[in-house]
Amino acid sequence: MRGQGAPEGIKDLLGSRTFQYDLTELPGLDYLSYPTGVIQQAQELAADAFGAEQSWFLVNGTTTGIHAAVMATCSPETALLVARNTHLAAFSALVLSGAMPVWIQPECNSALGIAVSVTVQALEAAFAEAASRQLKVGAVLLVSPSYFGSCSDIAGMVKLCHQRGVALIVDEAHGGHFAFSQHFPQSALSQGADLAVQSTHKVLGSMGQSSMLHAQGTLVDRPRISRALQTLQTSSPSYLLMASLDAARHQAVQQSTWAEPARAAQRIRDGLAKLPGISVLDRNNCACAGVLEVDAMRITVAISGLGLTGWQLAAMLREEHAVIPELASLKVVVFALGPGSTLQHANGLVEAFQVICHAGGDKQPDSERNASAQRDDSQVLQLGVRCMQKEPQMAIKPREAAFSPTERIDISQASGRISAELLCPYPPGVPVAFPGERIDSGTVELLQGVQRYGGVVMGASDDTLRTIEVIQ
Ligand SMILES: Cc1ncc(COP(=O)(O)O)c(C=O)c1O
Repeated sequence: MRGQGAPEGIKDLLGSRTFQYDLTELPGLDYLSYPTGVIQQAQELAADAFGAEQSWFLVNGTTTGIHAAVMATCSPETALLVARNTHLAAFSALVLSGAMPVWIQPECNSALGIAVSVTVQALEAAFAEAASRQLKVGAVLLVSPSYFGSCSDIAGMVKLCHQRGVALIVDEAHGGHFAFSQHFPQSALSQGADLAVQSTHKVLGSMGQSSMLHAQGTLVDRPRISRALQTLQTSSPSYLLMASLDAARHQAVQQSTWAEPARAAQRIRDGLAKLPGISVLDRNNCACAGVLEVDAMRITVAISGLGLTGWQLAAMLREEHAVIPELASLKVVVFALGPGSTLQHANGLVEAFQVICHAGGDKQPDSERNASAQRDDSQVLQLGVRCMQKEPQMAIKPREAAFSPTERIDISQASGRISAELLCPYPPGVPVAFPGERIDSGTVELLQGVQRYGGVVMGASDDTLRTIEVIQ
């Protein structure tokens, strides 16, 4: 009907032309699951632009790309070596593939309570653990850049993986722009990664949900990726999303796209460097092993000398200065720049920080006052370090945990039981309980401590943490 049946309200909001292009897989428009026409052409242009041998358009975000990458490389008979600071999608990929996780511990900046990198040594240790447990490794999955823009030594990891004939999958959700300027870090593909998954909708200009999966080399069976995507993706993909991916590729390859955003990022770094109480994360002050580069387009501001938490600062920036951070944690706020970022945005951000950093007296926004009265930052950070150091004890596979009957019990009774929940304290954003892992008294103590001292535990089905879901 080419949009004629679209409801008036949404047509008024988005314009009727939007709906003329909201098409389905009609003759001449190709099929996402078996592309041979315009979609194939657009994917080939993408592969060329991003430095891949083959690229796939994704209409359910990087999440689907991670699922397909793991399903194409792992099976219930193999292990996935996976960094513990990866996205939730890694958990569901373990459920879908049936693989056994072997964890790679990330490096964390303990003063800021953030996980910033994975070292080649940590990956080597994970390979050694898999060997000692006689597990065949299907693939390695890492996130780089991190949420904080820090990039790990992907070339070093590639070398280690390829010596063993194992594919490296990089969750490059926040690094879709890396291929397009020498001011950005090297992309995972240019360092030899076998698969890279990028949220084109995050840093590049495509619409929400649209991402890309890129492949190169011979270690990964590419028809298996296509088959996994046929299983995972809808048979009615949105042409608006796919067209926006094609347009984002076209925009990204124009050098002019990056000139002003790169200047804006530099202006923010220069402006914030002059202010008291804060510092911007760069390669030299990460205080962590394994950080090779920091993305110029991601500004992670460490605010330890400001007398505010990241959550308070984010609320002030939003409510009083109309500046929206991408992410906030106890000791940092993070800003993401992209093709639409201008010098005017940069000036607005720097001016907001000037006001806040030079303001004396009572700086806390009302909306955060109660939370902060109960918070003990140093305790939260110390507990965060203990969370990162905690050795996981995998009792059953995540897939088995996902399909097992569960029960809700009082958390005081949880020690010795197997978790059905993924519980992740912030800071540091590294899980302390994963579905299939045995809970011990240390787990319970950490979870209760983080909550008592004002940190946040994500993923709990009972947010009071009085009860917990465990395997029966
Ligand atoms: C590091 C990382 N990986 C994967 C994802 C999932 O990406 P998407 O939202 O495109 O599915 C996210 C989303 O925030 C992310 O931050």
